Amino acid sequence: MTKTRIAVLVSGGGTNLQALIDAQDRGELPDGEIALVISNNPDAYALERARRAGIETALCVKPGMEGKIIETLQAHRIEMIVLAGFMAILSKNFVSRYPERIINIHPSLIPSFCGEGFYGLRVHQAALDYGVKVTGATVHYVNEIPDGGRIIAQKAVEIRDDDTPETLQRRVMEQAEWKLLPMAAQAVAKRIRES
Ligand code: GRF
Repeated sequence: MTKTRIAVLVSGGGTNLQALIDAQDRGELPDGEIALVISNNPDAYALERARRAGIETALCVKPGMEGKIIETLQAHRIEMIVLAGFMAILSKNFVSRYPERIINIHPSLIPSFCGEGFYGLRVHQAALDYGVKVTGATVHYVNEIPDGGRIIAQKAVEIRDDDTPETLQRRVMEQAEWKLLPMAAQAVAKRIRES
């Protein structure tokens, strides 16, 4: 049986993409293959990471971004999509084409600090403003509600008294996101491969 063909959608630095590539290199993604990286931002450093790893890349920008993404996914026979710092909301029409086949990583423990407007450092700023002592990361399926799909995996991270949004973001990435995303991607790839 062939491995589940995965596309990773990115917009920025791509440290989560890197975690997936590194996991694949270590043999920790046995049921999936990162076949394609799509960016909606020509300057995303994630594109450079993909090229270095020998993964095909595509740029899909507005206007008509979604249509271009769908065409590219179909041309590459993609079966599963990982949103890894992809800074655009996908339409209901798009997500309904891939039910329980799109996953996203969000840097908080959903249902806290999530939904529209909660992205990047804003998520961590909101956690600090509220004064919670524990935050973390969540991998979830993507549906038409921002950060609203079924939860696949979560990992908690402690907040320190002297944290800034930047230090907290870094700790959530190191302790949660970069571990959780490859594990969840493997689990979903396995389920799809066996289905
Ligand atoms: C991460 O914090 C991720 O949780 C969020 O966007 C950020 C992307 O970072 N969805 P990177 O591009 O993977 O470094």
